[in-house]
Amino acid sequence: MTKLISYSPEETEKIGERVAAALKGTEVIALFGGLGMGKTAFTRGLAKGLGISDGVSSPTFSLVNEYRGKFNVYHFDMYRVTTWEDLYSTGFFDYLDNGVLVIEWSENIEGALPEDCVRITISPGENEQQRIIETEGLDIR
Ligand SMILES: Nc1ncnc2c1ncn2[C@@H]1O[C@H](COP(=O)(O)OP(=O)(O)O)[C@@H](O)[C@H]1O
Ligand SMILES: [Mg+2]
Repeated sequence: MTKLISYSPEETEKIGERVAAALKGTEVIALFGGLGMGKTAFTRGLAKGLGISDGVSSPTFSLVNEYRGKFNVYHFDMYRVTTWEDLYSTGFFDYLDNGVLVIEWSENIEGALPEDCVRITISPGENEQQRIIETEGLDIR
């Protein structure tokens, strides 16, 4: 487990870039943490680290955004996903092993997460700008 403190959205993006540098290409990255914690900011940095420079936003209505970089990245938002049927309709199971999956609102699909997934939990710090970012299942430098 790695625990990092971020003091700005830019720092959260940098942490995303560090995580990207440690990826092999088929990881499932489960993001935990409520609204406004910085899951999308983190994903923007992760994508940047894989050479994807724009177009990263919360896929709230589309449920999944696809980006092409060093690896294919499938960016999910599971906020509205509450049943197995919903989850199947996102294509989640088809994307597994075909790229890096980054999942906002992983709380909602806890039972479907692979055992070896990377878990990243973002929680509030001591002030508005501070976030605590805990990573399990991946060695980051
Ligand atoms: N340290 C920080 N890391 C990330 N976001 C931060 C931080 N401090 C403040 N923020 C703000 O929090 C919000 C995070 O938004 P976003 O990345 O869309 O969150 P989420 O996807 O978790 O809902 C942005 O408005 C951003 O400016
Ligand atoms: Mg988001």
